[in-house]
Amino acid sequence: MANNDIEHYKSKVTPYVFACWILAAFGGLMFGYDIGISGGVTSMDDFLIKFFPKVHERKLHASENNYCKYDDQMLQLFTSSLYIAALIASFFASRACTLLGRRPTILMASIFFIGGACLCGAAEAKWMLIVGRILFGIGVGFGNEAVPLFLTEIAPVQHRGAVNILFQLFVTIGIFIANLINYGTSMIHPNGWRISLGLAAVPGCVLLVGSLIITETPSSLVERGKEDEGRKALKKIRGVDEVDAEFQQIVAACEQGRQVKKPFKKLFKRSGIPALFVANIIQVFQQLTGINAIMFYAPVLFQTLGFKSDASLLSSVITGLVNVGATFVSIYLVDKVGRRKLLLQASVQMFISQVAIGAILLTHLSATGTLHKGLAALVVILVCTFVMSFAWSWGPMGWLIPSEIFPIETRTAGFAFAVSTNMIFTFIIAQAFLSMMCHMRAYIFFFFSAWILAMGLFVVFLLPETKGIPIELIEERVWKQHPVWKKFYDDDEGKRDEMA
Ligand code: BGC
Repeated sequence: MANNDIEHYKSKVTPYVFACWILAAFGGLMFGYDIGISGGVTSMDDFLIKFFPKVHERKLHASENNYCKYDDQMLQLFTSSLYIAALIASFFASRACTLLGRRPTILMASIFFIGGACLCGAAEAKWMLIVGRILFGIGVGFGNEAVPLFLTEIAPVQHRGAVNILFQLFVTIGIFIANLINYGTSMIHPNGWRISLGLAAVPGCVLLVGSLIITETPSSLVERGKEDEGRKALKKIRGVDEVDAEFQQIVAACEQGRQVKKPFKKLFKRSGIPALFVANIIQVFQQLTGINAIMFYAPVLFQTLGFKSDASLLSSVITGLVNVGATFVSIYLVDKVGRRKLLLQASVQMFISQVAIGAILLTHLSATGTLHKGLAALVVILVCTFVMSFAWSWGPMGWLIPSEIFPIETRTAGFAFAVSTNMIFTFIIAQAFLSMMCHMRAYIFFFFSAWILAMGLFVVFLLPETKGIPIELIEERVWKQHPVWKKFYDDDEGKRDEMA
């Protein structure tokens, strides 16, 4: 059925459209750079001596407990303050997206981000660092709200998955570049960390310029009553003049959406629950894979395993590269095999990798010793197989699926919940991981694997496939057809009354 619609939707990939995809995806690079930079910076001695002298002291006493040497709440607050800011900001970003459009929201993101980079790079006191991180966080909140929605809305339906995953691709490139930069700046004393933090302004600037070049999305224009501009934008991004079939669907979806005056209220109605639940649980699960325990703390983690400072940064460069490479697999496959198969395959691979890492550490890493060389290398390989499978599944799907499953009237509000859920759980992991590692030791890896099992079951029973379905038709074709979720739509109002 869906294919009929696709046949009527005409499109060409013009250089301008391609430029729009890439420029917007720089929002992902900003986010990724930030994820990647913190771990490396917090393991640099110059940085620790200046801002966290006590942590540095403890680090020098290598005989101390392996799993606990970095457990410091202030240090963790440095990493995680960004996520609190981002989670609050995403709700403001949702309003900005609805009232002003996706494009101005992306522009605002870049400005906050540049401000954060300048403040962190120039920091002389802890408060400057934290305020800088908060500005970064607001930038991430705005960028992560607007960019995935933008990409999903301007992508032709048959390539929607791939185009949206450009966001995640740029997240991984950002993490990787940050790892490389940290590797270089860790050798520059005493201000290498300033370069690491300050260079975040570069992707911010590209996004700033990009936001002046890209078009607004047709859905956002029509939603705000600018139909003529919407049609023009659609022609521009499809590279053809014949856009009637698709344009009519957008207008119809927006018209239906206009009847809804309070999107946040509609989200919590019975018929709003399926998309809201799925979008949020996907984000919860994405974080409970444990990916950020590795992304933020890879250098710290590898040092814990007995690698020297340089070797550990190098190992995280390797995982960064695997992360980027495997995301291409997702771009290639997501619109061919669909979202569900990728998620399921990856759940199995992630589960095996985590259990194996846990088992090796449990049996071979004592609190004060180090791992044998061979085993340490094996752990790096297992971390790579874990990161690889995350990168073609829960990583990109965490942003893709929530951006494509809401109808237009609840899209920005629903997606804001998804972004903020991602941030809350990223925050929890960032804040808790070092302490959890200190208390749970190797068992932490079993903790994450138990969650991975639960996610596999969720995909089997509750996650609908959204490949190839126009987003304007998502309620009709996806939710109302799914064996479990369709119950939320049978005679919506009547059912609610019955339940009351
Ligand atoms: C996640 C981040 C994670 C990154 C790793 C993203 O999709 O939201 O939390 O660090 O993927 O590549």
